[in-house]
Amino acid sequence: MTVRIAVIGAGLMGADHARIVAADLPGATLQVVCDSDAGRARTVAETCGAADVATDPEAAIVRADVDAVIIASPDHTHAPLVLACIRSGKRVLCEKPLSQTPAECLTVMKAEMATGARQVQVGFMRRYDRAYAEMKSALDQGRIGRALMMHNFHRNVATPAADFTGAMAITNSAPHEFDVVRHVLGCDYATISAAQAKRSDAVVAPVVMVLETSDGQIVTIEINNNAAYGYDVRAELVGETASIAMNPVAYTRTDRALAAGTAYDTDWRGRYAEAYRRQNRAFVRFVETGAFPDVAASVWDGYAAACVAEAGVRALAEGRKCPVERVPRPEFYA
Ligand SMILES: NC(=O)c1ccc[n+]([C@@H]2O[C@H](COP(=O)([O-])OP(=O)(O)OC[C@H]3O[C@@H](n4cnc5c(N)ncnc54)[C@H](O)[C@@H]3O)[C@@H](O)[C@H]2O)c1
Repeated sequence: MTVRIAVIGAGLMGADHARIVAADLPGATLQVVCDSDAGRARTVAETCGAADVATDPEAAIVRADVDAVIIASPDHTHAPLVLACIRSGKRVLCEKPLSQTPAECLTVMKAEMATGARQVQVGFMRRYDRAYAEMKSALDQGRIGRALMMHNFHRNVATPAADFTGAMAITNSAPHEFDVVRHVLGCDYATISAAQAKRSDAVVAPVVMVLETSDGQIVTIEINNNAAYGYDVRAELVGETASIAMNPVAYTRTDRALAAGTAYDTDWRGRYAEAYRRQNRAFVRFVETGAFPDVAASVWDGYAAACVAEAGVRALAEGRKCPVERVPRPEFYA
């Protein structure tokens, strides 16, 4: 049995998912590439060898020749399309964030719970990155003592849109850190504060967040969407007896003119190529077996990230530390 997948959204991320499904995903085939821009859908479908193209996502989801769906359209489309997948009984891998509002995540949660089984995997793929996995196992095995702090840097070359704001850095970029740190530490956030460096031009300034976890750890996150020099993600987990930091990932170093240098990627696709592949393989197993993958992010995790983002936006706007509020975790997501 082959899992026939529809990829919805054929932009940067959707094209990458389509390529992985077509070329790198045993047990799956690329059935449909759907984008509201027909030309974009056709280009990606032809490049990857998809069976068909479409422009209406809801129609693509209900097709009889589609077994499962990957959603990679813009953030505001995620929750409505996930709900359409749940209604038609198709398991879905939804790109992050599940939604930008906790309320919409709760609607998805209610719909998923009503089916009595897990239907949705959220694309927080950093959980599948080896650096974070090694940090988590070092902590879980007691090799660094109890966790005290986790420091994070997330830098992009330039903002994806001219009207990108500090609040969008929190709702669109930071959810990766919100989720993976929570996954590594194994606890939730209690409070968040956020501030922006002052800059004289109109380009969005870096946002720095300080979070306290319910177990008393401090988490720092810098989101700099206009770092200019390259795509650069760093993390360090500080324990009571040792510290474990992510190495820069580069296969080569150039030695020249009395200096040594490594190159940066222009974006995340190269740095996290293996994590996307492992995440998507886990999704195919989920579709085949119905067993939710151990490492993957669920609707509950998508909700937890949205709650932190919402509190972070408030903290930035009001210039004060804000509590992170959540409903109690349902037994369904234990
Ligand atoms: N996991 C990650 O590391 C990661 C990285 C980048 C982006 N993302 C997420 O992936 C999603 C897509 O990001 P992107 O950078 O590829 O954006 P993009 O703008 O390059 O692509 C989005 C595509 O969706 C299409 N689209 C818009 N509305 C649609 C609809 N209703 N139905 C079908 N297609 C529609 C657009 O025409 C466009 O081609 C975003 O939600 C983003 O947050 C995740």
